[in-house]
Amino acid sequence: MALISTRSIGQLLQSQGRFFPAQNPEKPGDKPRMQTYDVDLNSCGPMVLDALVKIKNEMDPTLTFRRSCREGICGSCAMNINGTNTLACISRIDTSQNKATKIYPLPHMYVIKDLVPDMNNFYAQYKSIQPYLQRKEEIKYGEQQFLQSIEDRDKLDGLYECIMCACCSTSCPSYWWNGDKYLGPAVLMQAYRWMIDSRDELQAERLSQLQDKFSVYRCHTIMNCTRTCPKGLNPGKAIAEIKKLLSSSKKTAAAASA
Ligand code: SF4
Ligand code: SF4
Ligand code: FES
Repeated sequence: MALISTRSIGQLLQSQGRFFPAQNPEKPGDKPRMQTYDVDLNSCGPMVLDALVKIKNEMDPTLTFRRSCREGICGSCAMNINGTNTLACISRIDTSQNKATKIYPLPHMYVIKDLVPDMNNFYAQYKSIQPYLQRKEEIKYGEQQFLQSIEDRDKLDGLYECIMCACCSTSCPSYWWNGDKYLGPAVLMQAYRWMIDSRDELQAERLSQLQDKFSVYRCHTIMNCTRTCPKGLNPGKAIAEIKKLLSSSKKTAAAASA
């Protein structure tokens, strides 16, 4: 957990708090705490990630956070900035208000250190939906193409752009309370992306894997996920589409057995 606070005194940014796991190997017995840094914005880039990098380089090398691309495409700098889950590298430092910028790790996740949440459960859930093209017959890799019409390719727009930053899943109350069994919006949107890919032949199997009370149906369409997505995507809508597919597959199965 971490706190950033801003102070609009001249060119200063006051920032950043600390959160250590229960057993901090650097300081046994240390408890989570907030920490404030003053950053000279005259010599700092405009984004929150710029301030974090400056703090780490010049003031406190122990400050821990993830980052890689610094242009909103790797998803690693996801964190909660002033109450919103977003990407630090594309979030401007807010200098308009005379108050602190508060920065926390993504909410309701186990924290490894400072702004670094434990993503293992999230990635295991992603793996569980088998996020890759599958065909019924054996695929001879490198020997054939699986063509797709322009119209079918268009159906993937708004889905494939997801960078798996987890901002949406960690803003979802259902995921907070049932994150072990509910897959959450990020993973479900990718499940949908593969279900509707015209080249994939396992839609029925993919749906059947989600036919339980928790995987999908913990979504109550509150839409926090869509509101927070830093890439402007709509995972809430993708989940609604999965529910429609699940419902029609149930009806088809019932009609077949009647
Ligand atoms: S849908 Fe948006 S918020 Fe959710 S993981 Fe993908 S890019 Fe991140
Ligand atoms: S719409 Fe569903 S997935 Fe999105 S925040 Fe609400 S409950 Fe969570
Ligand atoms: S550093 Fe890659 S998305 Fe922010």
